[in-house]
Amino acid sequence: MVYMMEYSEDMTGKVCIVTGSNSGIGKETAIALAEMGGRLALVVRSREKGETAKNEMVEQTGNSNIDIFVADLSEMEQVQSVAKQIKDTYEKVDVLVNNAGAIIGDRQETSEGYEMTIALNHFAPLLLTYELIPLLAKSESARVVNVSSAAHSFGDVDLDDPFYRNSYGSMKAYGTSKLMMIMATKELATKLEKLDISVNAVHPGFVRTNFGRSNAGLGSKIFLKLTSPFQRSPEHGAETQIYVASSPEVNGVTGKYFADMKEKKPSKKVGNEELRKAVWKFSNNILGLDWDNQIQSVSVSA
Ligand SMILES: NC(=O)c1ccc[n+]([C@@H]2O[C@H](COP(=O)([O-])OP(=O)(O)OC[C@H]3O[C@@H](n4cnc5c(N)ncnc54)[C@H](OP(=O)(O)O)[C@@H]3O)[C@@H](O)[C@H]2O)c1
Repeated sequence: MVYMMEYSEDMTGKVCIVTGSNSGIGKETAIALAEMGGRLALVVRSREKGETAKNEMVEQTGNSNIDIFVADLSEMEQVQSVAKQIKDTYEKVDVLVNNAGAIIGDRQETSEGYEMTIALNHFAPLLLTYELIPLLAKSESARVVNVSSAAHSFGDVDLDDPFYRNSYGSMKAYGTSKLMMIMATKELATKLEKLDISVNAVHPGFVRTNFGRSNAGLGSKIFLKLTSPFQRSPEHGAETQIYVASSPEVNGVTGKYFADMKEKKPSKKVGNEELRKAVWKFSNNILGLDWDNQIQSVSVSA
């Protein structure tokens, strides 16, 4: 059966950023938001793939209000540079879907010395959100949607070895990065409440995309191939993040975790306040982020 859902919210005039929107769940999210009339910013790491996706989106939705921004989001310098380009292009941002993410088979380090999975899946969304606070604050009620995973329950935070210099496992690194993302979502929600910016995390389900097809280890690749018939279509997989990004039912909801378009309880690990605060502090120290200062400067200039 072909999965089809109709999205009927009016996103006219709303600037919606979707990272990793040239394929999979991110692409379907961008298509739905474009269908609802939003002005789309696709953040992709290949201009060519971005152009191809944009052409399909324009053809499918009739909405040509779609811009492309290029960045390898595992490099924080590129995250900052793309944020600057976005700030130079738009007056405000209404929706930021931090969707780009990957599982990395063998341990890799970025040129900035971070382990690749944590850099792409956790640091990049946090830094992009931070840099875009001035624009998010200009929206009437902005929404940040962090695409996490149920695999966060496999996460095991070890702040003595956060970059896995002693031992690396792709699933452990992936799960931990998605756990850190949910922990940061919860902390951020409290910080950003006064600016009327909501922050929620989602799990899209088990979805048939390019996920793990090139980067993961052989075992994961075989697993993904064998389970392919049981995986959701990307259209179906995108529905929770589209819902959280656009539905009036989610107005005012912040700091929550969603799956299947419903609020769900994340793993108990997220509720470990001491660990959550430690992850928050570690992440902001590494990235040099001062949220109170950022929020204060926005409140003063408003
Ligand atoms: N599929 C699932 O079952 C599943 C389950 C739970 C959560 N998720 C999460 O859902 C999100 C979307 O994944 P997907 O399933 O749609 O997989 P996908 O088809 O592989 O899409 C991932 C997107 O992220 C982009 N990306 C990867 N590395 C990047 C980098 N260094 N810089 C910038 N962009 C980068 C990819 O760009 P390229 O095309 O250039 O590689 C692609 O656009 C991910 O965060 C994933 O962890 C997926």
